[in-house]
Amino acid sequence: MPTPAVASSTGFTANTLTDIDLSFSPAVALETAPIYDKLRTVVPAVEWPTLAPTIAAINRLKKQLGAVILAHNYMPPTIFHGVADLRGDSLALARMAADTEAQIIVMCGVHFMAETAKIINMGKTVLIPDPLAGCSLAESITGADVRLLRERYPGVPVVTYVNTSADVKAESDVCCTSANAVEVVESLGVDRVIFLPDEFLGQWVATQTKVELILWKGHCMVHELFTPQELRDLRAVHPGIQILAHPECPPEVLAEADYVGSTSGMIKFVDDERPARVVLITECSMSDNVAISSPQTEFVRPCNLCPHMQRITLPKILRSLQTMTHEVLVDPAVADRARLAVERMLAVGRGAKG
Ligand code: 13P
Ligand code: SF4
Repeated sequence: MPTPAVASSTGFTANTLTDIDLSFSPAVALETAPIYDKLRTVVPAVEWPTLAPTIAAINRLKKQLGAVILAHNYMPPTIFHGVADLRGDSLALARMAADTEAQIIVMCGVHFMAETAKIINMGKTVLIPDPLAGCSLAESITGADVRLLRERYPGVPVVTYVNTSADVKAESDVCCTSANAVEVVESLGVDRVIFLPDEFLGQWVATQTKVELILWKGHCMVHELFTPQELRDLRAVHPGIQILAHPECPPEVLAEADYVGSTSGMIKFVDDERPARVVLITECSMSDNVAISSPQTEFVRPCNLCPHMQRITLPKILRSLQTMTHEVLVDPAVADRARLAVERMLAVGRGAKG
């Protein structure tokens, strides 16, 4: 149980860790004013006194514990801009987890992201504020399924999306994310790969490479809901709009988009192109985060929320730091094999642009 060790090494007592004043004092108002300046377009002033004390408490506690908070692009703005130290897509989060010197990593994202951080940091404490934050893609396949595929296609290398469990990564040759999937597939120098588990991402990768992909029928429960008609309607209602879509969407949806890329790829597109009006065909919290840093662009927000990402909340992050829960653990033998696949991806993907 890591709590007492952490508490004593930072000078904390059990009481200072648990008895945190969550009133909106003048000191809290002052301390959080720069954060509210960023959030004012998405958080009404009347709501701030209910959020600021938790944000201030998290920021103080993480500093005192020497913890680092990583947040995926899908986190709500209060987490993304309020308490996160490092932010990004799943590739960036894996790279940041590999590079951080902090001994405690709090992953504000879903379980596979925390597990990936643990696999490359077995000596560190990796926490996830809600252990039930899963992923429909990760749930679509098991390590046993990968072993069966290898029997069916002997000698064909397995490229696995990071949205998978450690068991599945351990059975794979190399991981990828939506930001570097094409580069990873091509890095193997073969004519055919098994690509798991996202069928739609695989179909999109297949349009970008000559390598043949053997696919699995996993889908993201958020992105599979978008329809091409929705995109056509958006274009009709908002003439000139730029439509950016995540490659986890069905192919007929991607065919209607102006740009296809990972969450960070979409952010980069907005930063570089500065379009007057865009719609991000992905989890909808992201639009709020990007809108804060791109005031020149108007964001049309269709709303498909990921119920797993939404499990991560400010009170749960505070609780996570107070109690050092929920610690993510991976069997060391599984982690050793999974790490090879993740590290091969990090080596290949270093030049990926999203
Ligand atoms: P990115 O790798 O683009 O961040 O996507 C992760 C994810 O879960 C998309 O649904
Ligand atoms: Fe998984 Fe889809 Fe949620 Fe991303 S948005 S974490 S792929 S269920």
